[in-house]
Amino acid sequence: MKTITTSADLAVARAQLNGSVGFVPTMGALHRGHLSLVERARAECDAVVVSVFVNPLQFGPSEDFASYPRDESADAGLLADAGADLLFLPAVEEMYPPGRSTTVSVGPIGEVLEGADRPGHFDGVATVVAKLFNLVDPTVAYFGQKDAQQVAVIKQMVRDLSFDIEVSVCPTIREPDGLAMSSRNAYLSPEERSRAPAIYRAMVAGAETLREEDFDAAEKKMWDLLVTEGLDPSYASVVDPTTFGPPPADGPVLLVVAARLGSTRLIDNLPTDR
Ligand code: PAJ
Repeated sequence: MKTITTSADLAVARAQLNGSVGFVPTMGALHRGHLSLVERARAECDAVVVSVFVNPLQFGPSEDFASYPRDESADAGLLADAGADLLFLPAVEEMYPPGRSTTVSVGPIGEVLEGADRPGHFDGVATVVAKLFNLVDPTVAYFGQKDAQQVAVIKQMVRDLSFDIEVSVCPTIREPDGLAMSSRNAYLSPEERSRAPAIYRAMVAGAETLREEDFDAAEKKMWDLLVTEGLDPSYASVVDPTTFGPPPADGPVLLVVAARLGSTRLIDNLPTDR
């Protein structure tokens, strides 16, 4: 695996790759969730490119950009073992030289739920992913269902800006107790970690409620369970899995949750057929 830190070197290395290129954008502090995307890319594509870049544009002023977990040498080892060909590891100044001012904004789908709680977050995501897509020029880009609204934002951007890239969505990888793997789980104290699986349990209970009762009852079930278990929910909602607007009367829906445990904010979701 070759590690590359500049766009110029990436262009040279990209030109030497033959066949289909699978791309996995990440912010590092890699865990088995990330690696499942890399493994899928390895199985499906001729070459695999992974980026590790903690993107300042997608963090709000009071969020955890400075403290976000970083472990570049461990990440490089895991990616080499997983069979990545190129690791793109740019510095902030390489991605955002002085004078940059363009932002990619996808509109309404980036403004509800996560977008409402974290103003500007999805503009930051769309802007960096657009830039990475241009630099890497992948055939297929791999994203996790864990960040379902992010997937919807990226798909909207790919359609609207005519990126010739297939977006492939990989299932959420969980700990045995149901907690979705996340780089931010590292922030949890042992006591918080023991309460964190309440997010998954709340969604499972919400999905069960939906079989007998309406959306409001399912949302209340999730909210109450989170509060009872000592979490501080931002939202616990049933939404349309494609628009993230109000759920359709029939067919699949998505249960989405964001909740704080102490100062750590975690998100998760559960697709359900009803
Ligand atoms: P990051 O949080 O590092 O996640 C990188 C990719 O890994 C995303 O597509 C995310 O959905 C996926 N992922 C994270 N946890 C997962 C899990 N438990 N199971 C399956 N997939 C999981 O998402 C970002 O970085 C950034 O917003 C990025 C797209 C890189 C833009 O900066």
